[in-house]
Amino acid sequence: MADLQRPRTNVRIAPSILASDFTRLGEEARAVEAAGADLLHIDVMDGRFVPNLSVGLPVVAALKGATQLPLDVHLMIVEPERYVEAFAKAGADNLTVHLEACPHLHRVVEQIRELGKKVCVALNPHSPIDNLDVVLPDLDMVLVMSVNPGFGGQKFIEAVVPKIRALRAEIDRRGLATDIEVDGGIDAETARTALEAGATVLVAGTSVFHARNGYRDAIAALRS
Ligand code: DX5
Ligand code: ZN
Repeated sequence: MADLQRPRTNVRIAPSILASDFTRLGEEARAVEAAGADLLHIDVMDGRFVPNLSVGLPVVAALKGATQLPLDVHLMIVEPERYVEAFAKAGADNLTVHLEACPHLHRVVEQIRELGKKVCVALNPHSPIDNLDVVLPDLDMVLVMSVNPGFGGQKFIEAVVPKIRALRAEIDRRGLATDIEVDGGIDAETARTALEAGATVLVAGTSVFHARNGYRDAIAALRS
């Protein structure tokens, strides 16, 4: 029983460039790579699905040449099916679409799979895991939002923890290898909560890029 409470050791850390210094984006990517990051999380916002705008295709393409880290592209956009091919060509390794933005989710999942990219579906804090039922075996990862998407630096919503737990139980019950990524308000303390609930990938913007003691310590703190 105690083992189940213990964080998984294969945790991967995905710093979110949203909190980085955009005037030095390439250097920032290489710095977190050198500091032990496993993925580079890129938040794409369209001002429609979320009330904010961020970066798009040219930035993904530029980062592809700047770092060896796999690019974890989080599409917070409406009609993502119109753009997944372009993001795949730009260099995305993981493509995440929001459940709430996809009335034909199964089709989009197939589309990403056919592009040869890792398939991930994100759930807003209020969205139940039930709607993943049919597509779950086709997913490499499920992203559970622990803040309302659109902005960095928000507070972790504790109410999503039971959902992470339920998703972990369902993935294990089916014997799947699907990763669970948690995104929003992740610091050393909430990282532990998310990992204990069954997360395997942690996104962190503010707690890495605004860390007092440097990127290496911040990433190590999330892992432990
Ligand atoms: C929020 C984004 C997050 C954000 C996380 O919409 O999806 O990836 O960058 O930022 P922090 O870690 O600061 O909450
Ligand atoms: Zn994100």
